[in-house]
Amino acid sequence: MLLHLKNLLSKDELASVQAQLGEDAPWRDGRSSAGGQALAQKNNQQLAQESDVARQLQTVVLAAVRRDPLFFSAALPRKIFNPLFNRYGGDANHYGDHIDGAVLHSHADGQWVRSDISCTLFLADPDSYDGGELVVVDSFGPQRIKLPAGDAVIYPATRVHRVEPVTRGARLASFFWIESMVRSDEQRRLLFDMDMNLLRLRAQHGETAETTALTGTYHNLLRMWANT
Ligand code: NI
Repeated sequence: MLLHLKNLLSKDELASVQAQLGEDAPWRDGRSSAGGQALAQKNNQQLAQESDVARQLQTVVLAAVRRDPLFFSAALPRKIFNPLFNRYGGDANHYGDHIDGAVLHSHADGQWVRSDISCTLFLADPDSYDGGELVVVDSFGPQRIKLPAGDAVIYPATRVHRVEPVTRGARLASFFWIESMVRSDEQRRLLFDMDMNLLRLRAQHGETAETTALTGTYHNLLRMWANT
């Protein structure tokens, strides 16, 4: 499932994050953290993970995703990898087709995270740069994604994806992975659809015996599939 999360960051949070991700932020060659097949494809910059700026911004991004009910319903997060930050522009401007590693080790907290879901939070105004679309190859063909600053997309980490070359300006983003309580994308999708339709039914008819019973079915499915 590919899902657009709108206004994950408030205007004030976004302005503060953008101010801290200027040219003088501790950017490093993104290839330093890529392995194997990704290495040949990767050409961008990443914020030094151990820097004070990175730690501060990670807190902002984690707080934003944790308060978003749509993120919770769609991702059913068990663990979230510490958010990373990247910049595409100038000579370091693209990331070719690749697949993210299945298990990732976080330098920040030392834990291993299985990458069930990938998240990209767009941080630059889309009018301020050309190119830089995130292209995710899914079963319906390639999806080209370029979102307003402060919006995010989540998609199954099982998909081949790339970032198109940035030909003007700079594309800033945060990206990270989520290990879900529900490992299967198909099961997560069923649960998300059910949750969203229950919300709509309640909005239309209030709480009824049927919505109560279906909510029970939702939780019984989640109980059957979830690992906590
Ligand atoms: Ni990737």
